[in-house]
Amino acid sequence: MRSSIITLLALAATALAVPLEQQQHQHKHQHQKRDVYTQIVYVDGDGKVTTPAGASPTTTPTATASPTTLTTKTTSAPQSSAAQSSGSSSSGGSGGISGDLSAFSDPSVEFEDGVHDCGSLPTGQGVIAVDWLSNLNGGFTSIMNLNGDTSTDCTDGFYCSYACQAGMSKTQWPSNQPASGISVGGLLCKNGKLYRSNQDSKYLCSWGKETAAFVSKIEKDVAICRTDYPGSENMNVPTLLKAGGTSPASVVDSDNYFTWKGGRTSTQYYVNNAGVSIEDGCIWGTDGSGVGNWAPVVLGAGVTGGKTYLSLIPNPNNKDAPNYSIKIEGADGSDVNGACKYENGQYVGGNGSDGCTVTVSSGKANFIFY
Ligand SMILES: *[C@@H]1O[C@H](CO)[C@@H](O)[C@H](O)[C@H]1NC(C)=O
Ligand SMILES: *[C@@H]1O[C@H](CO)[C@@H](O)[C@H](O)[C@H]1NC(C)=O
Repeated sequence: MRSSIITLLALAATALAVPLEQQQHQHKHQHQKRDVYTQIVYVDGDGKVTTPAGASPTTTPTATASPTTLTTKTTSAPQSSAAQSSGSSSSGGSGGISGDLSAFSDPSVEFEDGVHDCGSLPTGQGVIAVDWLSNLNGGFTSIMNLNGDTSTDCTDGFYCSYACQAGMSKTQWPSNQPASGISVGGLLCKNGKLYRSNQDSKYLCSWGKETAAFVSKIEKDVAICRTDYPGSENMNVPTLLKAGGTSPASVVDSDNYFTWKGGRTSTQYYVNNAGVSIEDGCIWGTDGSGVGNWAPVVLGAGVTGGKTYLSLIPNPNNKDAPNYSIKIEGADGSDVNGACKYENGQYVGGNGSDGCTVTVSSGKANFIFY
């Protein structure tokens, strides 16, 4: 039986419930758990979880059903998305991704610990400030300590998380994550100054694998909102896909990115209806609002073992079709397996209600809005 890797979708059974120990805290909205989790696991042809030789252990679906992620259940059937490669292989990624990339390329100035005041996020080098969150000051995306306490201001003892520009991912989180299962990320505030919590990275943002982009063929802008993870999981890390434009998507190198209880993690985006602004859409939404965690589309992206997995994931909070269609399509000369689109309220290419995944073996693929 050949082993294949899939992105397994584990959906929380209880919508918007909060771990017990967090309910006592004031800023509950920062602690809400999302309803959609993607996790990369290896399965064999029968859908049984395995660990192929040479692969690092992965978290099994059972392991995700810990008290800290609430009761989770696996709702996807195995899709053999890593089926035989077919078609022509290109040597991969000819030409860069355009869009926001023109504004900034690679970080070149190392972050200096103990220099910047905690009061406001030092932007630049890929770091962007998020200024529309009423409960957070200083441009940060979440402010938490290892006990799960939150704060409006970045002050001593707190980890102050931040957004990176479209296509880039934050590099900072402490290796000692809370045993409770919540995740914490960002810069550490100590004696009023900011310090890297991950000394292995000199820069605060890094490019992942540049194997995916967003492409718009529609006439309104789309607010694509990444979860701040590790961190509050608030979907407040923005990518604005301009009408008719393109923008890089973050594809984290799941083999070398944040792991949760030993399991690899991927990038996750909540995608709002066209015409909803970043400020209105990249937030914790309220029940029925249709924005943020109630947005009509969820996207996942990650690379493991040299293959990129891109998914469209149903949001259990919102089954209404978005006011556009979306498909994942290989760029010219790329080697892409699988078909995946969400059109007229139907997922095509996967197991219907569970969304769908494509595998990019070489080159890149685009999430096309049309
Ligand atoms: C789709 O997924 C559901 C839930 O996991 C499962 O019950 C069903 O059998 C799957 N359908 C197919 C065609 O694989
Ligand atoms: C899509 O829906 C949003 C809000 O739900 C609305 O503001 C926007 O005008 C709609 N866009 C299109 C292209 O229909």
